[in-house]
Amino acid sequence: MNGKDFADWSLETRAVHAGRVEGDRKGGDRKGGDRKGRPYVPTVPPIHPSVTYAYERMEDLDAAFAAGGYVYTRHGNPTVAALEEAVAALEDGETAVAFASGMAAIHGALLAVGARAGTAVVAARDLYGATYVLLDRFLRSQGVSVRFVEVTDLAAVEAACAELRPVALLVETVSNPLLKVADLPALAEVAHQHGAALLVDNTFATPYLVRPLALGADMVIHSATKYLGGHGDVLAGVVVTSAARREALMDVLKTTGANLGPLEAWLLLRGLRTLVLRVQRQCASALAVAQWLEPHPRVGRVFYPGLPSHPQHELAVRLFGGRGFGGIVTFELKGAGREEVFRFMDRLRLCIPATSLGDVQTLVLYPAHSSHRSLSPEERAALGITDGMVRISVGIEAVEDILADLSQALDQL
Ligand SMILES: Cc1ncc(COP(=O)(O)O)c(C=O)c1O
Repeated sequence: MNGKDFADWSLETRAVHAGRVEGDRKGGDRKGGDRKGRPYVPTVPPIHPSVTYAYERMEDLDAAFAAGGYVYTRHGNPTVAALEEAVAALEDGETAVAFASGMAAIHGALLAVGARAGTAVVAARDLYGATYVLLDRFLRSQGVSVRFVEVTDLAAVEAACAELRPVALLVETVSNPLLKVADLPALAEVAHQHGAALLVDNTFATPYLVRPLALGADMVIHSATKYLGGHGDVLAGVVVTSAARREALMDVLKTTGANLGPLEAWLLLRGLRTLVLRVQRQCASALAVAQWLEPHPRVGRVFYPGLPSHPQHELAVRLFGGRGFGGIVTFELKGAGREEVFRFMDRLRLCIPATSLGDVQTLVLYPAHSSHRSLSPEERAALGITDGMVRISVGIEAVEDILADLSQALDQL
């Protein structure tokens, strides 16, 4: 391998190999050897469905309990550990903890940094709908002070942090669905000045565009359901962080039981192998879609960080280092409301009107009734989520086919 170690490999290479050798390193798969006793290592990590683990001696079981070894799958599972190792490697983190969904991961991260009655959390106003509701309704009702701030207004973030001394500042690298870009290094500085941990939902950006831990974030969260899995067949979440924060996360996970199953972890490991290829293609096609939509007579505003018209375009260039601007494009149908948007979406033949993102297929979503359905019309209006807004998660199909489909649906309006 050119004398290079895993840590020196590029992201592309790590994505293909990360988590592969987990069983090997732990000695599990080499132990028996083949029929002639020759040790071997499978190139694909095995799925370990076992809920519990037996040891030769009770002393060993006791030591496994003490050291966080495999004793019961809610406390740890070899297949899930392989996935955690892989995602940690991709995000340049020391450790990762997998959860049953992105929402469970966000909740787990907030609890792990100490969000309890009497503490405060400052969060971006622009968040995935369920994250907003988790903070606004659930944590607030449990006695946590929650303040939503405009993430692009650093002075406002600073003022809220100074006033509340929050345990966490929670932001999305690229927000859902308006695609605002967060200035992560500046936000890390503000958070740390006021004793807060910076929690970054990096779902939209993926580690291909940016690795927030290297920019000062304390925890990176993924809805792994999206780009990490990439195939629309697994619901999962991951939190990546420092070794020092692992115990707090594991305490939450072991107690709340929001664990990812081993079969799901294995599917994610399979998805990760092609993460970079998929996201490169999705970024290139999304830029083409955004550029095609912007001058279209039936289209109003187009939100895409790769367009010079995007308010944080320069920040996006700096933060993502020219690798791309993500696979999501949001736009408004000119003068349209729900009825016209539904007509447009019903006419799509290739792009699928479905609630998710980051899949290999192009998915089109209506934020007002889907990702931000649980918000009141007033809350949506305050965020700038209009009734004519459409969000496209660009897939890996040929971009000319995606454009042709959008074109015919727009032409029929
Ligand atoms: C940015 C973001 N974070 C978190 C989530 C929640 O993830 P999950 O659906 O895996 O719980 C989503 C879901 O769409 C999302 O878009």
